[in-house]
Amino acid sequence: MTIPLDEAQVTVSAAQLRAVRDEMQRFLLEYRFGMQEIETKISILREEFQQMHDYNPIEHVSSRVKSPDSLVEKVGRKGIDPGFSSIRAHITDIAGVRVTCSFTADAYRLFDLLTQQDDVTVREVKDYIATPKANGYKSLHAIVEVPVFLSTGPVRVPVEVQFRTIAMDFWASLEHKIYYKYARQVPNRLIDDLKEAADTAAALDERMERLHRELHGPSGPTLRI
Ligand code: GTP
Ligand code: MG
Repeated sequence: MTIPLDEAQVTVSAAQLRAVRDEMQRFLLEYRFGMQEIETKISILREEFQQMHDYNPIEHVSSRVKSPDSLVEKVGRKGIDPGFSSIRAHITDIAGVRVTCSFTADAYRLFDLLTQQDDVTVREVKDYIATPKANGYKSLHAIVEVPVFLSTGPVRVPVEVQFRTIAMDFWASLEHKIYYKYARQVPNRLIDDLKEAADTAAALDERMERLHRELHGPSGPTLRI
């Protein structure tokens, strides 16, 4: 089979293509397992909270493994060597879990409860709640590593976990759509509007959390374990 790549011609056999595909699937499988480990940990915390405190701090959890297309795009964009070991070392968001909480205090609480677990290692934390990005983006990010036990032995898999409130999530999903609609060149007018919307979302979070505390008292379920 001959694949035209700009002017260059690369000849690859169907068997070679299948081998690359199989290796890619095997590579991504480890990340799927790591992601499932984190999902299980989050769902245990959620059920335990519900059972013990009659309170659910999590609104929803979503997760994904990067698609081969988006992985290849990122490898190219970041100028990373395209071998699997280099990708493994440099791209830490192949597996991602997003935990959307009711309140900011819950986001921090869940972060603590997850990262303090013995088999979880924290590789990196970015606290965009304490220090929002210039565009107004807020979320607490952690790159954690969890062990996955395969037939070939254990591997440690990095998973990017994002903790945020519903208001932060609402803002981020709209901003994401705008960013891609304008192909990363958002007009200034919209940038200003988005920043203002982020401030409004943050004010709503504060207000809702204050009301929640009034309802449950200062040692309410968000703070008591
Ligand atoms: P990437 O190379 O894009 O992964 O960024 P990074 O390595 O600098 O990591 P960072 O922690 O800043 O962002 C990781 C992820 O957070 C992104 O893939 C998005 O899911 C989310 N994120 C970060 N910044 C923004 C933002 O400004 N807007 C939105 N909507 N999401 C963001
Ligand atoms: Mg990313």
